[in-house]
Amino acid sequence: MHHLCIEKLERLTPRMHGEAVALCTAAYEQPFEPHFEELKDAGAVHLLGRHDGRLVTHLAWVERRLQTRDGLTLRTAYVEAVATLPEMQRRGWASALLRRFVDHVGDFQVAALSPSDAAFYARLGWEPWRGPLFQRRGDRWEPTPDEEMMIHRLPATPALALDAPISVEWRPGEVW
Ligand SMILES: CC(C)(COP(=O)(O)OP(=O)(O)OC[C@H]1O[C@@H](n2cnc3c(N)ncnc32)[C@H](O)[C@@H]1OP(=O)(O)O)[C@@H](O)C(=O)NCCC(=O)NCCS
Repeated sequence: MHHLCIEKLERLTPRMHGEAVALCTAAYEQPFEPHFEELKDAGAVHLLGRHDGRLVTHLAWVERRLQTRDGLTLRTAYVEAVATLPEMQRRGWASALLRRFVDHVGDFQVAALSPSDAAFYARLGWEPWRGPLFQRRGDRWEPTPDEEMMIHRLPATPALALDAPISVEWRPGEVW
């Protein structure tokens, strides 16, 4: 495989912001600027993958709190905006970035995401959460039955029952 040069950024420069929004807009075939504003407000950290200087693949994560019924709260690196330039897809770039992602979030207790294609992530070590999913508003747990979530274990991940109920704090837009 060719070389991917990975850069981690806690704050995108205006130029990188423009490049990353253009990449995600092309990959998802929908305007991504509003989602990037949400990511910025949520304190997202970005991983940018370049090949020959060209931005080819991207992901970001935000800090969230997953919680189980018995009160276990997990400081979670929640992955968003996984995208590869359409003309550069199926060459292993997103897989390479996702493999390296886990090295950057060692201070979290778990990583999670809402998969578009569970088989793609499963190959990279992500496990489907089998139990029911909920959104948390204050102390209230509201079911989100149509959602899907996968986790990736990290060195600090405690023992988890993947078939147990789990919740995440509510947010505007897509909760999971
Ligand atoms: C999903 C997405 C990020 C994958 O990016 P990618 O860089 O193409 O990913 P990879 O190349 O690592 O893997 C994609 C597939 O190509 C395969 N592949 C990897 N290297 C390959 C190669 N050299 N030759 C042929 N196939 C290859 C992988 O096995 C994988 O197969 P799968 O689709 O059967 O799982 C990309 O398709 C995308 O941007 N999609 C639109 C946005 C989106 O849906 N994002 C996910 C939201 S959760």
